[in-house]
Amino acid sequence: MAVKVKTVFVCNECGYESPKWQGKCPECNEWNTFVEQVKAQPTTAAAKKASANLLTTPGPAQVLNLGEISADEGIRHNTGMTELNRVLGGGIVPGSVVLISGDPGIGKSTLLLQICQQLCMGMRVLYVSGEESMRQLKLRAIRLGVSTENLLISCTTDTLTVIDTIESVKPDMVIIDSIQTMNLSSLSSSTGSVSQVRESTQLFVREAKENDIPIFIVGHVNKDGAIAGPKVLEHMVDTVLYFEGERSLSYRILRAVKNRFGSTNEIGVFEMGEDGLREVENPSLMLLSGRPGMVSGTCVSCVMEGTRPILAEVQALVSKTAFGTPRRMSTGFDYNRTSLMLAVLEKRVGYFFGNIDTYINVVGGLRLDEPAADLPVALALVSNLLDKPIDESIVAFGEIGLAGEIRAVGQAQSRVNEAYRLGFHKIILPHSCAVQIRTAEMPQLDLVGVKSLSQAIHAIK
Ligand SMILES: Nc1ncnc2c1ncn2[C@@H]1O[C@H](COP(=O)(O)OP(=O)(O)O)[C@@H](O)[C@H]1O
Ligand SMILES: [Mg+2]
Ligand SMILES: [Zn+2]
Repeated sequence: MAVKVKTVFVCNECGYESPKWQGKCPECNEWNTFVEQVKAQPTTAAAKKASANLLTTPGPAQVLNLGEISADEGIRHNTGMTELNRVLGGGIVPGSVVLISGDPGIGKSTLLLQICQQLCMGMRVLYVSGEESMRQLKLRAIRLGVSTENLLISCTTDTLTVIDTIESVKPDMVIIDSIQTMNLSSLSSSTGSVSQVRESTQLFVREAKENDIPIFIVGHVNKDGAIAGPKVLEHMVDTVLYFEGERSLSYRILRAVKNRFGSTNEIGVFEMGEDGLREVENPSLMLLSGRPGMVSGTCVSCVMEGTRPILAEVQALVSKTAFGTPRRMSTGFDYNRTSLMLAVLEKRVGYFFGNIDTYINVVGGLRLDEPAADLPVALALVSNLLDKPIDESIVAFGEIGLAGEIRAVGQAQSRVNEAYRLGFHKIILPHSCAVQIRTAEMPQLDLVGVKSLSQAIHAIK
């Protein structure tokens, strides 16, 4: 008798399962991500084991009094890169599983191979690559200047082989590059599918916890839906790092989006070069290099990335709408927030953008998603509309309310300090922040506290 094969449709982005095909995933709202998969039937061995487990009870779990538990999380391993350490919350925690995801070619393998140089001073690292051959890895290691006895390389794509290798080699840290190439032969679905990626990760997570070794997992972000995206794994691992940046530009931003052992606000900035990734200790200087002199429509702001103030340049371009409804484009700044700024400018200050296209761009691929970026955006728009350049020594930050008022933002002191340090002496900021700034060590500082958007616009004229 022919057995009817049960299939199920699985979203490649988030792993949502549905009995029938759907164009749009109800879970993550992505389009065209559903693929048909054979429904995973428990193998007979596993089924037997499961039923056997029902008969024998495993005994009680270990229970400790809260006072008896040590709060000492153990030493964190130093990666040798301050930027990465900071994003991880101070280094690598033993037994933690870190997912590094990003577009192909962004530099995930490069970063992980590079940190091996420092890590291998005190520990043995197993680098499992399913993407490159041993020779390719050797060539890359030579290019990056990584040479150490303690780095073990294995090129395999079989998950169980990797687990066995970890058990026999007993490394102090493992790197899996990439999870989408890992394959469990007991599963019928193809390599890179949601179930393969999920099951393999589960095994690696268990391995990390049981042996108390950190495991780094590389996950590619997919655009075409051929492989499962890293979203599927995010809830299974301890820490999720996004490595992002424009392919055409050399610098990269590493961001923690989930971290059980640290803050998720921190970013690390790197620059990709021929000999690998270089840390950028002063991102503001880099982001501001190549600023056009005395051109209308650009305004420098100071935003907080975690605990670090970073100066970034906001650019605005306005032009008369040629046809139909005006275009609104916004890169690096929230689109809806731009519309709101335009409405406030129109209603409260009297600048009309009704038949004008507006383009906003934050230089350097940075994303400004804090309210403090409102003011520079509005000022850049007005500056370009009036074709009046904003003085090069001005930095502006502040939240704009619907009544056109400028509202206080956090950490004003560190923003002012950073701006002053980099030679920006005139700072336009919310009035309520300005009165609290300690200006003792900044003799040339010109603080302009503003209460309303029109006051701020007056200050740049
Ligand atoms: N000589 C070089 N050979 C190869 N790649 C280089 C070289 N110099 C710089 N690179 C950079 O290294 C990147 C490859 O990064 P990689 O770590 O393999 O990315 P990922 O692992 O995220 O796919 C390339 O996109 C390129 O920018
Ligand atoms: Mg790679
Ligand atoms: Zn989905």
